[in-house]
Amino acid sequence: MNPALQEELRKLRRSLQGFLEAEKGFGVEAVMGKGVGREKNVMHSVVSLDRNLEPLRQEVSVCIKCPLHQGRRQTVFGEGSPSAKLMFVGEAPGSEEDQQGRPFVGQAGKLLTKIIEAIGLKREDVYIANIIKCRPPGNRAPLPEEIHSCEPYLVRQIEFIRPRLICALGKYAAMVLVRKEESISLLRGNFYDYQGIPVMPTFHPAYLLRNPSAKRLVWEDMKKLKTTLEKLETSP
Ligand code: URA
Repeated sequence: MNPALQEELRKLRRSLQGFLEAEKGFGVEAVMGKGVGREKNVMHSVVSLDRNLEPLRQEVSVCIKCPLHQGRRQTVFGEGSPSAKLMFVGEAPGSEEDQQGRPFVGQAGKLLTKIIEAIGLKREDVYIANIIKCRPPGNRAPLPEEIHSCEPYLVRQIEFIRPRLICALGKYAAMVLVRKEESISLLRGNFYDYQGIPVMPTFHPAYLLRNPSAKRLVWEDMKKLKTTLEKLETSP
């Protein structure tokens, strides 16, 4: 094919992709091809008004699938842009999150916000969720059966958002999304596949609060994450 035409097609595909992603943010379910008669060649957007995360949030808010519901003040569903290109997945809510109903709002959350800003983004640009939606008592590590009960909610959040990249924060998020036995120290900084989406594990911000010297490694990971995200955004 003629190179100029090929380039034109590439540009067209990229701008259509941008359009579709923007539409997704407004709840557009699908864009259909040609119409008929007078509407021939018109692109149709099919808007589904309930295409947002609210029904799932409602479902999670009354979940009693595991005993963690007994000790929670409220569930912590997740927050951010529903059309985010980058998604962060942590472990489970702590005391502050349980109180506010929002993920990563305590000390570790403040550090996560700084990490997000360090790569030139704002919290509202990304989506932040956890593996577990209820606070484990005393902030203990989640149990396998709790992870098993809660995981389908995360799967549906990821399916809805379809981010370009996922950053798994800490050992539990890596365990669920990467499904490898290696330690987080070995997994971090590398990309793995989760349903066609690249996932990079890195240290959890709470770990960084206890081990500030590991911040340097997370900074390396974040630079790689940002470069990869930029490449994915400009690729057809
Ligand atoms: N740690 C997490 O893994 N998630 C939160 O939301 C808060 C702290």
